[in-house]
Amino acid sequence: MSLTAFRTLGRSGLVVSPLALGTMTFGTPRWGSADDVSEAIFHDYVDAGGNFIDTADVYAGGRSETLLGDYVAARRLRDQLVLATKFTFNAQPGNPNAGGNGRKNIHRALEGSLRRLQTDYIDFYWLHAWDMVTPVEEVLQTLGDLVRAGKIRYFGVSDMPAWYATQAATLAAAHAVPGPIAMQVEYSLVERSIEREHVPAARACGLGIVPWSPLAAGFLAGKYERDGAGATGEGRLSGPNPFGNQKFTDRNWQVLEALRTVAGQLDRPLAQVALAWAVAQPGVAAPIIGASKLAQLHDNLAALDVRLSPEQMRVLNEASALEVVFPYGIASPAVNRGIFGGHTVQGWPGTQG
Ligand SMILES: NC(=O)c1ccc[n+]([C@@H]2O[C@H](COP(=O)([O-])OP(=O)(O)OC[C@H]3O[C@@H](n4cnc5c(N)ncnc54)[C@H](OP(=O)(O)O)[C@@H]3O)[C@@H](O)[C@H]2O)c1
Repeated sequence: MSLTAFRTLGRSGLVVSPLALGTMTFGTPRWGSADDVSEAIFHDYVDAGGNFIDTADVYAGGRSETLLGDYVAARRLRDQLVLATKFTFNAQPGNPNAGGNGRKNIHRALEGSLRRLQTDYIDFYWLHAWDMVTPVEEVLQTLGDLVRAGKIRYFGVSDMPAWYATQAATLAAAHAVPGPIAMQVEYSLVERSIEREHVPAARACGLGIVPWSPLAAGFLAGKYERDGAGATGEGRLSGPNPFGNQKFTDRNWQVLEALRTVAGQLDRPLAQVALAWAVAQPGVAAPIIGASKLAQLHDNLAALDVRLSPEQMRVLNEASALEVVFPYGIASPAVNRGIFGGHTVQGWPGTQG
């Protein structure tokens, strides 16, 4: 597979590459990439056929968008790219309306992103995180108006409960107005919580899943070694970073061992195998890859050539399996047979849990 194995993003007409380029490292001092490296990462992703680029107004305080805007403008690539950015996080300490998902902040944030990206429209506008207060109707009306005004083409939701995405998609469908077409959520071999609620919700609502941190911020590249309760090794997780170092858990080290086994069988770097697993998961439209070095980008793009056998999938899935919690434990084949009088009943595709 290559970056030109295009697919639609959810139930929509927006066409994207199977790996999106994350730009959270662009302009970021300690764990990010130097500007010349960010530029090279951008060029090589686009030259390899990639069209889907992810940023946010909050990354590097806006500098990620500024750098990206420069790179796009220099090569006049605006119309062939799907530029995605995000709003939610606060830009003016002390001003509650300079953050959140209310109408006032969405308009403020959008104007800033358009300016920094040097464009008059955003292809994909993400609600970056659930703010816990703004009614979903207000978000839908605001983003729908921006679609109609031509300022954004599509939108989606990130870092939110599955019920919130479902409510937004259902209300939009019922009223035949623009609704979310994708969800952006953390998803990797060591963070599979979304499989309980988000993945079925995405399937039911026609939302493409766009995983972030598919390498668990570098943990799954195998660069860290267990050292008591912590770890040795150099990278994003060995110093200050926005996600802390919660990846160094007993369970995650076990998952890493299984990944090492499969990567050894395939004679591939761990990162490629972890990404290949994410690409292959049901409902996934395009994981977002991150890189602090150019060689990492190339390594990660090569993941599109990795095919995991059913046995290798089984090993990875078993090592990383979620604990079965209520009510999912109830939904077993035996219960299905009991409910349907001794028959195993298959649901219509898309309605099954
Ligand atoms: N919606 C959200 O809330 C949210 C949150 C986070 C991220 N995102 C998006 O998702 C994108 C990707 O997230 P992420 O950067 O956390 O992804 P990731 O793939 O989990 O981690 C990327 C990091 O892993 C290391 N790495 C990457 N490829 C490697 C390789 N081949 N070999 C060895 N190490 C490798 C690098 O860190 P080192 O410097 O340690 O080598 C790199 O910066 C971001 O750019 C952003 O666009 C969204």
